[in-house]
Amino acid sequence: MSRRQRILDLRNRAPAILPSMLLCDYGNLASEVARLEAADVPALHLDVMDGHFVPNMTYGLPLVEAFRALTDMPLDVHLMIEEPGKWVERYYKAGSDCITIHAEAVDDPAPVLEQITQLGAAAGLAINPDTPVAKIEPSLDKCDLVLAMSVQPGFGGQKFNPIALDKIREIRALCGESVLIEIDGGINASTIQASAEAGAELFDAGSAVFSGDDYSERVEALVAEAALPL
Ligand code: DX5
Ligand code: ZN
Repeated sequence: MSRRQRILDLRNRAPAILPSMLLCDYGNLASEVARLEAADVPALHLDVMDGHFVPNMTYGLPLVEAFRALTDMPLDVHLMIEEPGKWVERYYKAGSDCITIHAEAVDDPAPVLEQITQLGAAAGLAINPDTPVAKIEPSLDKCDLVLAMSVQPGFGGQKFNPIALDKIREIRALCGESVLIEIDGGINASTIQASAEAGAELFDAGSAVFSGDDYSERVEALVAEAALPL
C-alpha cells in the first residue's frame, strides 16, 4: 500500500488520536513508541521546527529516521519550517507518510503540494489561527489533508483557540470529503468534542497523552469524548 493511502485510510479510524511526539520522553524513544503501539494509536505526529518559521527548534531528519526504524505506524510529519520545498524530498526519504507544510511559509503552496504527491506521500497543508481559509482556497484541490492549527505553532501545552472550528467548517463546506481534516493544539477531553463536531477527523494531542502514565487510558478517554454528542 502506498504511503499516501496509509494516511487516507486514517479516515476509517476517525476519531483518530495522533500523539504529538514533541512532548514524549526523548531519552526512551523505543519504549515510548512501544507503549503507543500498545495503546493502538493509528499514527504518530512529528513536529519539525526550525527556529525561524516558529520561535522554537525541535528536531529534523535524524529523528524522523529514528521513528521510522522503530515502528511501522504511519508518520505524519508537520513541517514548521521556512522554504519547505527544499526539504520535502529528504523528509520523504526519511520515512514520512504525510508531509504537511504551512501556508504561511510559502508564496504558493501548490507546487510544493504537487511535489509531495509526486514523491508518493500524502500532501498536507496547515493554516495558523490568524490565516483566513481564503488564503488556501486556491490550493485545496492539491491537498490530501488540511491541518487547522488551534494554537499558534511553536510549543505544546497552549490553550485551544476555537477559531479553528470555524475554519474546519469552512474547509468542509468547500471540499466535502475530498480532504482529511486534522486539528492540532490544545486538544484535550474538553475541546475534542467540539472539534469532532465541526468535522475534524484526526486529532493531534501532546499534553493530553503525555501528561499521564497510562497512554491507552488517555487515548481511549479522548476517543470516547470525541464520540459523544455535544
Ligand atoms: C504545536 C505543535 C503541536 C503541539 C501539540 O506547534 O504542532 O503538535 O505540540 O501539543 P498540545 O496537544 O500540548 O497542544
Ligand atoms: Zn503539530
